Order: sequence, then C-alpha cells, then structure tokens
Amino acid sequence: MPIETSSAPSPITTIADIGKHEGQSVTLRGWLYNLRASGKLLFPIFRDGTGTIQGIVPKAAVPEHVFETLKSLTLESSLVVTGRVRADARAPSGFELDVDDVTITQRIPDETPYPIQLKEAGVDFLMENRHLWIRTPRQSSILRIRATIMRAAAKYFDTNGFIRTDPPILTPNACEGTSELFEMDYFGDDKAYLTQSGQLYIEATAMALGRVYSFGPTFRAEKSKTRRHLTEFWMIEPEVTYMDLDGLMSLAEAFLTHIVTRVLELHTADLKTIGKDVTKLEAVIAPSPFPRLTYDEAHAMLVDAHDKGLIETVHQYGDDFGSPDETFISSQFTKPVMVHRYPAAVKAFYMQPDPQDPTKALCVDVLAPEGYGEIIGGSQRVDDYDLLKSRIESHNLPMAAFQWYLDLRKYGSVPHSGFGMGIERCVAWICGLEHVRETIPFARTLNRIYP
Ligand code: 4AD
Ligand code: MG
Repeated sequence: MPIETSSAPSPITTIADIGKHEGQSVTLRGWLYNLRASGKLLFPIFRDGTGTIQGIVPKAAVPEHVFETLKSLTLESSLVVTGRVRADARAPSGFELDVDDVTITQRIPDETPYPIQLKEAGVDFLMENRHLWIRTPRQSSILRIRATIMRAAAKYFDTNGFIRTDPPILTPNACEGTSELFEMDYFGDDKAYLTQSGQLYIEATAMALGRVYSFGPTFRAEKSKTRRHLTEFWMIEPEVTYMDLDGLMSLAEAFLTHIVTRVLELHTADLKTIGKDVTKLEAVIAPSPFPRLTYDEAHAMLVDAHDKGLIETVHQYGDDFGSPDETFISSQFTKPVMVHRYPAAVKAFYMQPDPQDPTKALCVDVLAPEGYGEIIGGSQRVDDYDLLKSRIESHNLPMAAFQWYLDLRKYGSVPHSGFGMGIERCVAWICGLEHVRETIPFARTLNRIYP
C-alpha cells in the first residue's frame, strides 16, 4: 500500500486546483505576472497558465533572501513558489497565497525587460508580440474558451451519431468562389489550392456513412481587412443525408445551444476576466426557439429600419446582406437568428433551389446576436445531376475537377444538407470580442503572417 502523501511538504498543484488545498502549504510553478510593494509588504501576482493568484509576503514573516529576491524580481521571470493557501472572498480566484519560499527558474535581466508591460499597448504592437501577448490573463481566458468551444462542437457531433471524416487540405478545385483561392504549384504540371471548406468531400463521405462531419483549418485569400475575416481559420462542418433545410436549421440550433451551455458551465471566471456579460449568453440557451426569418422578411426589416432612420444605407432587394445589414438584423434579437432562402444568384453553385420559388436557394445563414453577424452558413445541396452540371458550367468552374463531385449525383443521389461554422467567429461572439484576431493563437490576416 502506498503511504498517504498528504503529509508530504508542499505538494505541487495549479492555481486552478488551489481550492482543494485550503489551509495547506503548496508549490506553484509559473511566472511573476505583477508586483506591488507597500513598505514591508509585497504583493506579487503569480500566474501558471491555469490562472492568477496574489501572494502576500510580509518582510517579517519570510527569510530575508525570499523578500529581497521577490522585491526586485522582473515581471514574467519564471519561478517556483511555495506558500500556504488562504481563502479570501475579495480575491478574484477566492484564494491568496502566504508565501514561504521562492526559487527563481529564470530571472529576466533588468536591461532586457519583458516587452509587454501592464500599461495599455497598441494593437499593432501586441500583434507583433503575439507570442508573448497570449500570456496575459485575458488572452489566456479567450484561448481556454476557444478550446472548450472546439471540444463541445466536436463532442456534439460525436455523441449524435456523426462520423468525423477529414477532407484533404490540398485540393484541385474551388468550393466557395474562385477569387478567394490560395494557389500553389503541385509538382509542375498541376495546380493545387488550399481548401476553402471540406464540404464537397464530406458530401462524398456522407453518401458512405450517413451523418458525417469535418473539422480542420480552411483558407480564404480574401483581401478584406474587416474584424470578421481571417485568411486561415478553423471550420466545423456537418453533412447529413436525407436532411432538408428545416432539419438543418434544427441541427444548427441544437448545436449552438450545446456549445453555449458548455461555455457557461465551465468558464464563468474566464468570461468575467474578459468582461463578457453572461446574461447575454444565458438568453441564448433560454427555452424558446431561435428566430427564423426568410430573406424577404429580413429585407423588409432593413427597409423599415431605413425608413425610420435607424440605418444609413438602404438594402437593395436581391443583394446579399452586408456587414451593417447583418449587424442590424442580429441586434434585433437576443438569440441567434436564422435567415433562410436567399436569392440563389448571390449564393454558392451547389445550393438546392427552393421548389416554391426557384430564384431562391434552400440555404441558411445563422447571425449571432449583439451585432456579430454570420457565424454559420449552410444549405440543402443540389441533388440532381443535370442541374448541378449546368451550375458548374454557368459558374465557369472547371468540369474535369468536379467530375467526382458529379458522380455523387449519378450513383444513388439523395437529398442532403450541411453547414459550416467558423470557430473564430463563434469565439468572437461568445467572448464578446471586437476582432477575430484575438480568437486564435496566431491570426493570419491580409497584412500579417508574423509571428
Ligand atoms: O459561409 P461559408 O463560406 O460556407 C461554406 O464554406 C460552406 N461550404 C459550409 C458548408 O455548408 N459546409 O463559410 C462558413 C463559415 C462562415 O459562416 C463563417 O463563420 C466562417 O465559415 N468564415 C470565416 N471565418 C473567418 N474568416 C473568414 N474569412 C471566413 N469565411 C468564412
Ligand atoms: Mg457564408
């Protein structure tokens, strides 16, 4: 029988787990995040990747070298600290650490201080130092929530009978418009493109497995500098056979509800660090359906808002919605709003026409609340061979590259639907962030590929 180790001096733990050690002496391994001194008292704030905790160091209570070492310690120096855990209702984590001892792992020299000081720094500077910026509590909280969103998203499909099938990243053809393709040479004769979406391939795996999803990086050579656009982002995409647009909207609703529920369960502290109003998220999962609007209804809403002077530009019937339009529509609801049946002319070649009005596509965009705009795009797919072939022609797409895709309509075609959700857009919305550049460890945008 192993001997009980609770008598061991100062077991190693993490700040996230510190509540399990109230009243005990523990060892934390991390960094000095901040330091305040007040006469014979030091208040270092330690971080270890799981959170931050304030230490108390009274000169009289610790060996002199401990006080002197901490007093002159440079921010972000790495260290191992031992101390007693004390509950403190005023502390953000609920606990403080009465420091007993400290060992410095690496002391940052005074001549080369950590570049990101706690005072406000400009976004360009922070992005240039993104490899360091991610250490700040707010950024760490965002990355933890991102991880939960990705895990919850995958889990939703894993536990609902979906098989994960991974589409290729190097592809011979476009999926979402040829102007946004990253092109590369593929051994001389052939061109390859970085995938814009796994959709076309998972339509094939759906015909093999029924309910499938893909989850991976996708690429758009979009020359847009908006707060919603990255050139490399992560997309999760389900594809389901014998599912129509209505079924797809219900799937999107259950999926988003699951994700928001998980984030609320696990990340109250992180949401607080970021400054997100959780009541906005609680409203999303309240038991009532997500609103569904047709494109025509959304258009009428925009015209009305323009008439009342609520928005500047008037939406032209037939046009896609621009960012300000989406922002207005979504800000009218506390839940994500599902806008369906857009004019086929502004949507992708593979979307099934509405039998009631073939000028419309059986598609849906899910617009997140609080003005975040589109986070999900999806549709029922064209399942007729001849129609799909004529669409490929009229969109000037290279027929040879789409032969395999046409085969899916030749050999046992069935109605099917799917959608794609951009993880970064979802993180920006759930965390309440200004810009998608903070939603991914190292954002790739039109004018940034460093670090
Ligand atoms: O609406 P999109 O272009 O749809 C597709 O790619 C479909 N093939 C998906 C499918 O039906 N399986 O993109 C889907 C989502 C958008 O709603 C948005 O969340 C995200 O991907 N997205 C981007 N996110 C960040 N930066 C960009 N440049 C994005 N472009 C799309
Ligand atoms: Mg879209």
